Amino acid sequence: MATSGPASYALAPLMAADVAEVVAIERATFRFPWSAAAFLSDLNLPYAVWRVVRAAPEAAVVDAGHAAPWRHRRQPDPRPLVAYAGLQMILDEGHIMNVAVHPDYRRRGLGELLLLDLYRQVRPRGVVRLTLEVRASNLAALGLYHKYGFAVEGRRPRYYGDGEDALIMWTGRLDAPEAQARWEELRRSWHKRWSVD
Ligand SMILES: CC(C)(COP(=O)(O)OP(=O)(O)OC[C@H]1O[C@@H](n2cnc3c(N)ncnc32)[C@H](O)[C@@H]1OP(=O)(O)O)[C@@H](O)C(=O)NCCC(=O)NCCS
Repeated sequence: MATSGPASYALAPLMAADVAEVVAIERATFRFPWSAAAFLSDLNLPYAVWRVVRAAPEAAVVDAGHAAPWRHRRQPDPRPLVAYAGLQMILDEGHIMNVAVHPDYRRRGLGELLLLDLYRQVRPRGVVRLTLEVRASNLAALGLYHKYGFAVEGRRPRYYGDGEDALIMWTGRLDAPEAQARWEELRRSWHKRWSVD
């Protein structure tokens, strides 16, 4: 559980019951949003990792009684879903499929929280590099990825439906000692900045 000001954030796997909320953010965010069907077919792939962040006042988290295992949840969670990210593991590569934060919750460290969480999820499963495609004009995302050690290694011309190019970004090897130290330092500074123990 992460805490920032009056809100607290909880990370959890993306469940089918969450997809309507994810699609609402997707539609508010992307020109070519993923459909509910696309999320539903991806989230159960054995090689996919999808995570969500929910926000709520601390008391609401306790009152809502969500000690029950997330995996067995059938009903929508009452806490607002504010961010999500997904990745597919292909051999020892982690292909980040999507990262998005609700427009009202941006610049609060949630994009970083999701990257740190994906890293934590996939490193023990043998992923040693991360990659993604990003619009060449997406300065917010480029800033986030540069901060986490991604570098532009290629370009796909006119990759997006509106003709914009995609930049292909990769991290270096995550199992290199300096990379492990960097991610640990990023994790520490995130916790310090956002007042999390
Ligand atoms: C990109 C996105 C996920 C970032 O999430 P966020 O929670 O707002 O970002 P954070 O608060 O974690 O910021 C982390 C870093 O990202 C960069 N960043 C985030 N927003 C930025 C902005 N508007 N302009 C420039 N840099 C930005 C900064 O480097 C920032 O580090 P800093 O706070 O030390 O300056 C968010 O803007 C978003 O959902 N955008 C729309 C969806 C999208 O473009 N997804 C990426 C698809 S590839």
